[in-house]
Amino acid sequence: GAAAAEVFESGATGYAYNDIILLPGHVYFAADDVRLDSRVSRSIPLKTPLVSSPMDTVTESAMAIHMALQGGLGFVHYNNTVREQKKEVDRVKRYESGFITDPKTLAPHHTIADARDIKARYGFQGIPVTEDGRMGSRLLGIVSNRDIEFIRDPQVRLGDVMTRELVTAREGVTLEEAYAIVKESKKGKLPIVNGRGELVGLVARTDILKSRDFPNSTKDKVGKRLLCGAAIGTRPEDRDRLDALVEVGVDAIVLDSSQGDSTYQLDMLRYIKNRHAHLDVICGNVVTRSQAYHLIRAGADGLRIGMGCGSICTTQEVMACGRPQATAVYMVSQLAREHGVPTIADGGVSSIGHIIKGLSCGASCVMMGSMLAGTDEAPGEYFYKDGVRLKKYRGMGSMEAMKQGSAVRYFSEDDRVRVAQGVSGAVIDKGSLRRYLPYLIQGVKHGFQDLGVLSLQELHQRLYEGRLRFQVRTPAGQMEGSVHSLYTYERSAV
Ligand code: XMP
Repeated sequence: GAAAAEVFESGATGYAYNDIILLPGHVYFAADDVRLDSRVSRSIPLKTPLVSSPMDTVTESAMAIHMALQGGLGFVHYNNTVREQKKEVDRVKRYESGFITDPKTLAPHHTIADARDIKARYGFQGIPVTEDGRMGSRLLGIVSNRDIEFIRDPQVRLGDVMTRELVTAREGVTLEEAYAIVKESKKGKLPIVNGRGELVGLVARTDILKSRDFPNSTKDKVGKRLLCGAAIGTRPEDRDRLDALVEVGVDAIVLDSSQGDSTYQLDMLRYIKNRHAHLDVICGNVVTRSQAYHLIRAGADGLRIGMGCGSICTTQEVMACGRPQATAVYMVSQLAREHGVPTIADGGVSSIGHIIKGLSCGASCVMMGSMLAGTDEAPGEYFYKDGVRLKKYRGMGSMEAMKQGSAVRYFSEDDRVRVAQGVSGAVIDKGSLRRYLPYLIQGVKHGFQDLGVLSLQELHQRLYEGRLRFQVRTPAGQMEGSVHSLYTYERSAV
């Protein structure tokens, strides 16, 4: 095999993931021993080097929550109003808090229909009922699913059906004490009250179970809240969007542009760094060292790599610009590493092998669109076509998405005629991320095991020391390496 430098630095040829293959190393440990710890940006560590793309058919709150729970990160898209995007980020930030300090509450005069409405909208069960329906007023009871599930009439008042005998904890209780009471009482919710019996907080049983189920989750240091990213554009009005997202505690901002080396992006980056110094800003997209250098010099905390390699992208065909992804990831990541800036290999991933190749070419983590768009947690409803269960997936530069507002990613301010740089389509149902992400993570660990590397740090060390060996596959080599010579009689085998 050859070292990465020999393969990628020839200049004249660019390689896609499928063009290259890695030579195996020596296996002396179990796949479970592999550690995938990485960073998505300067100050955000991840246990899982996977992030979801800010696309309107990929990342809203449900996706971002589950990516973060399993050690990755989600970037909420901005093909929506400022209010809508803020609400999605807010949902992620509120998702797993030890103490819920602003629970939804109702009053005794509210009805079963009101309680069901809260459950449908927020998924909460067990709603505290207070004297005037607000936090800080006297706690009278709790209405849970068991109180109302067999009652047909939605107009029955909660005061008539709620549970009045409550187990509560006094203000000042520690989280550990509260958890112990919850376990002991076997109740779903533990209201926290002050000396006057007024509701000041709530602890949820599901939060305890969640932190047990997801030991790798991506959380902040203090409040145990999940981390959440979001994308914005580089127009003047995006400054208001930024402020709204900061208000609800967004942790990282992606400046979303198909060609990131622009005055617009540099100006926006400097503006954010001046205004919100604590916030990590991920710039891009880039595919060359010089593009990357301009952004790194201006203070980028992370770089997103990829131009036209996405499954729904037509940028390379329409704009004649871009770069095959394996070469792009290697060239940019090598420079970024010298400056301590993590990189995201964005797009072009359609198998576990592509994730491993992206990381092997130097990326700190991998961003996916199509791989995640068919999961339960992606926005949109499933539908059937020819007996196959599908979900919609579309490029943010597709005519369809642009009509809804995403044109900012693909056009400068004075463009009058729009040329699409993406298409709309559908992807096959993949079920829930609860099962799908562990499958991807385990697959990546197996790949590392075959390479004989125990961690991402070791992988990158070998890469830059020339000890990770690559080969370029001929077309016959690629054919040989994929499924062939089979008579395919089942759709699932195609
Ligand atoms: P995958 O391959 O994971 O790619 O589906 C997702 C990435 O593709 C980019 N993207 C686009 N690129 N036209 C493009 O040229 C588009 O309409 C488009 N929409 C998304 C984006 O970087 C995303 O993360």
